[in-house]
Amino acid sequence: MLRNKRILLIIGGGIAAYKCLELVRRLKERGASVRAILTPAAQQFVTPLTVGALTGERVFTDLFDLTAEHDIGHIRLSREADLVVVAPATADLMARMAHGIADDLASTALIATDKPVLIAPAMNPRMWAHPATRRNLAILEADGITRIGPNAGAMAERDEFGEGRMAEPMEILAAIEGHFTHVGSATLTGRRILVTSGPTHEPIDPVRYIANRSSGKQGHAIAAAAAAAGAQVVLVSGPVDLPDPPNVHTIHVESAREMLAAVEGNLPVDVAIFTAAVADWRVADAADQKIKKGPQGTPALHLVENPDILATISRHPTLRPHLVIGFAAETEKVVEHARAKLARKGCDLIVANDVSPAHGVMGGDTNTVHLVSPAQVEDWPTASKAEVARRLAARIATLLEGQA
Ligand code: CTP
Repeated sequence: MLRNKRILLIIGGGIAAYKCLELVRRLKERGASVRAILTPAAQQFVTPLTVGALTGERVFTDLFDLTAEHDIGHIRLSREADLVVVAPATADLMARMAHGIADDLASTALIATDKPVLIAPAMNPRMWAHPATRRNLAILEADGITRIGPNAGAMAERDEFGEGRMAEPMEILAAIEGHFTHVGSATLTGRRILVTSGPTHEPIDPVRYIANRSSGKQGHAIAAAAAAAGAQVVLVSGPVDLPDPPNVHTIHVESAREMLAAVEGNLPVDVAIFTAAVADWRVADAADQKIKKGPQGTPALHLVENPDILATISRHPTLRPHLVIGFAAETEKVVEHARAKLARKGCDLIVANDVSPAHGVMGGDTNTVHLVSPAQVEDWPTASKAEVARRLAARIATLLEGQA
């Protein structure tokens, strides 16, 4: 599976860097070629000489190395790979990746690459739990980066236990092999895919609106995964606190009616995936001016139904995509309601998830979904939203190949 696969291994500066030596050996045994970049801090833990002896290639350390720039350059280095693996991904390296800082060879290669990236975080448990690291991780996952670990256990520091140990070399190897199985031969190159994501905001007056708790993480991850698999992706996003995914044409909208117009304006597509939590209702006559308190008392909001974007596109008389996928956010009888929704909305597949507060799906980083088609229900294991997105992209590729 790894024969002739090209791995760019970026080794960060953590004690776990020594485990990368074992990882390189296992990758080479399986026929992969490995090029390594060492950050300056990584060189405190492993030497370029050792890494070079194991990879059998020169090791890259400097952004401004004229000889290397002449022969290879950081742009080629970052693109002549099938997968970029960052291990150990330190808190510092994750922060620089999340914010697009490019001040050394490793961070520059990471921002210059157009290839999928797998990170194996390793740090002290307090650093892993710190809100800054959580924020950076959320950004990286929304960008479509895959993660393996960290594991829980004893730390190199005496008497420190907790989550933060880098995954073992064989676990990282399994994640790398898993990546190539998912990507497999099925790609989305040449396919046009439209994704809706996030909540909608329905105005009450110029300053107030009705909204919901959707974060847009799952929809944005799907757009990123489809783009990483080679598709030309249009993302129609409601108001979210997420960056636009890389290589995705993102259109920002507020209300359900704006979302429908943007979707219709971007047809035809091969596949449409409706992840957005569209408000079912809007205020019938939103006020032009801010509604003031006064003797008239409490205002009553008169609601009217919004257009159903998924149902409208599923039943489009001329431009129905080959594959229309809806999401079902349910709090009970998840599969039963999803089945009914599939029939009612006329789509081909429903990705059903349980959004009851106990599961923490809304706004959280993991998801447990069931893929419901008219013929069957598949229960997928709980996974990060990025992983669910990749599986869905791989499934779409297979379904489209079957239709061709
Ligand atoms: N959807 C849509 N336009 C709407 C409402 C929903 O495109 N106006 C899409 C969502 O993007 C999702 C699917 O329909 O793919 C299911 O949305 P959900 O809100 O879970 O279902 P509802 O149709 O609103 O049904 P109910 O509220 O009864 O669960």
